Amino acid sequence: MVSPQEIEQAAGIIRRGGLVAFPTETVYGLGANALDPIAVAKIFACKERPSFDPLIVHIASMDQLRQLTRLPDERVAQLARVFWPGPLTIVLPKSEQVPDIVTSGLDTVGIRMPDHPVALALISASGCPIAAPSANKFGKLSPTKAEHVRKQLHLVDHVLDGGPTRVGIESTVIALHDDGFVVLRQGIITAEELEKVVSRSTSDSTREEQIASPGHIQSHYSPNKPLYIWREYADIPDTRNAAFLSAGSPAPAAFKRVEYLSESGNLYEIAANLFQKMHALEEDGHIEFIVAEPVQEAGIGLAIMDRLRKAAFQYR
Ligand code: TXA
Ligand code: MG
Repeated sequence: MVSPQEIEQAAGIIRRGGLVAFPTETVYGLGANALDPIAVAKIFACKERPSFDPLIVHIASMDQLRQLTRLPDERVAQLARVFWPGPLTIVLPKSEQVPDIVTSGLDTVGIRMPDHPVALALISASGCPIAAPSANKFGKLSPTKAEHVRKQLHLVDHVLDGGPTRVGIESTVIALHDDGFVVLRQGIITAEELEKVVSRSTSDSTREEQIASPGHIQSHYSPNKPLYIWREYADIPDTRNAAFLSAGSPAPAAFKRVEYLSESGNLYEIAANLFQKMHALEEDGHIEFIVAEPVQEAGIGLAIMDRLRKAAFQYR
């Protein structure tokens, strides 16, 4: 549990230019004052993140959205009414107030209002928008518990422990083109749900969006041991010292350990458990590698397979 006193203390750290890790509904974030370029630079150093990978700015009010963006867009208000607070990041033209380091020099900024009482209280108490990537080392597994943050990051001034996160995978990231949205990163909010509110663009993401979006980086979200996707890899080694990460099916061979992401194949449950189970298997010294069961690539399954493919990339 996080007390109001602890929120106040953490907000003081943010105001003084420090780093606070905090829970959101998706994954834990590593936060700093988004308007303070020196504080934001500490995020990149702490995560060992390349400076070409832009950060998401977290807000607690629509006033902060107006402060950070250049052009009012009726579609943003419509999306916000339905999906905020929630796991949707919208990439928008940035205002002059957003330091270049936040956006890696891009003219746009990714913004979201997280659906977590601790995150919202921290932003409000700090009195500034908070730039926060996932609180992991660059390219490694995303954190869904406070202990995952402590395991990877050692230069954080404070970690707010809000327990395990509910959604378990990072927010859906979209950009808005003149004729509609394009998805830059798949998440729990699907294109089909978004389409009920604004239309989908007939064009693809632009070159600049692709360079900035994590889809461009093929290896990501990786455990520190090999991960193979069952049936997509022809030559998986002897599985007797491996773990099977099941999406609902029984293990197809002899494995040392079997972990169920969901007993019933429920995709929300699979997403919520994905990084948590991968952390547990990463820490198990008796397991040499992980074999994951794929899910159907539709709806939320797109986001789950995106994370699995990137975790597995080097073993393709
Ligand atoms: O759920 C989440 O989104 C979590 C929590 C902490 O909010 N945050 C998160 O941040 O996943 P991060 O930095 O790990 O991933 C954000 C991704 C970046 O990799 C970046 O490529 C994309 O969002 N992004 C941010 N700003 C962008 C921009 N201006 N244009 C295109 N993509 C952008
Ligand atoms: Mg990340």
